Amino acid sequence: MVPPSSVEAAAPPLAGPMAAPHVPGYLDQTYWWAYVHPKAVHFFEREWLVNLILFGNYKRLCDAALTELGAAVQGRTLQMACVYGDLTPRLLGRLAPEARLDVVDVLPIQLHNLAAKLPRDERVTLLHGDSSALACADASYDQVLLFFLLHEQPEHVRRGTLAEALRVVKPGGKVVIVDYHRPGGLHPLRPLMRQVFRHLEPFAMDLWRHEVLEFLPAGVAPASVRKRTWFGGLYQMTVLVR
Ligand SMILES: C[S@@+](CC[C@H](N)C(=O)[O-])C[C@H]1O[C@@H](n2cnc3c(N)ncnc32)[C@H](O)[C@@H]1O
Repeated sequence: MVPPSSVEAAAPPLAGPMAAPHVPGYLDQTYWWAYVHPKAVHFFEREWLVNLILFGNYKRLCDAALTELGAAVQGRTLQMACVYGDLTPRLLGRLAPEARLDVVDVLPIQLHNLAAKLPRDERVTLLHGDSSALACADASYDQVLLFFLLHEQPEHVRRGTLAEALRVVKPGGKVVIVDYHRPGGLHPLRPLMRQVFRHLEPFAMDLWRHEVLEFLPAGVAPASVRKRTWFGGLYQMTVLVR
């Protein structure tokens, strides 16, 4: 387990103590070009580019996640992993006055990048930690958000992440998952996305082949599950209520 340490949001972004960086092998080997290398962060931190990668669906998917979390987001929210673009600033903008937002990411460079995008706000805490081994108490969050995280993780890490999300959310709380999904058989982007996944995102096909529910720990049954898809089925939002 990586003990989380906090990074204070906004300038000075590195005010908090940092734990020794621990970079999972799949990030270092498979996703260095997207998240690990400083030039990658500089390159990808452009909303138009993220929107292009999502074929124009970035805002729609962010809107869906934010709507699911509420017009005024109450209680304690955990965002598992940083996201390029304005999702987290928008989420912060919806926090109720007494609400709290924690964002956990395993890469300090991503936490620093996020800190630079956020206004100083004591309701936000950025945590250095691994989504599959959180140092958070059971049932300590009202909702958990996973935005395009699961498809990047090897199966054993994905299973750990979902187990942790369901462990730390309170009974009755939501786990909101936005990610890839199997598109319809005649979807014109199927061949292209297959090639993208084959060459760049080797774990993503798992979300074409399986429902998110299939990666939950044995014996863990959410109280309810809702799924909605967009763009011919290429994207999904699955909401688990514990
Ligand atoms: C949320 S995912 C993909 C987001 C999306 N593609 C975007 O537009 O940014 C990317 C983030 O996940 C983080 N991440 C990957 N594996 C992680 C893990 N095991 N624990 C915490 N963060 C992780 C990476 O460091 C990176 O910041």
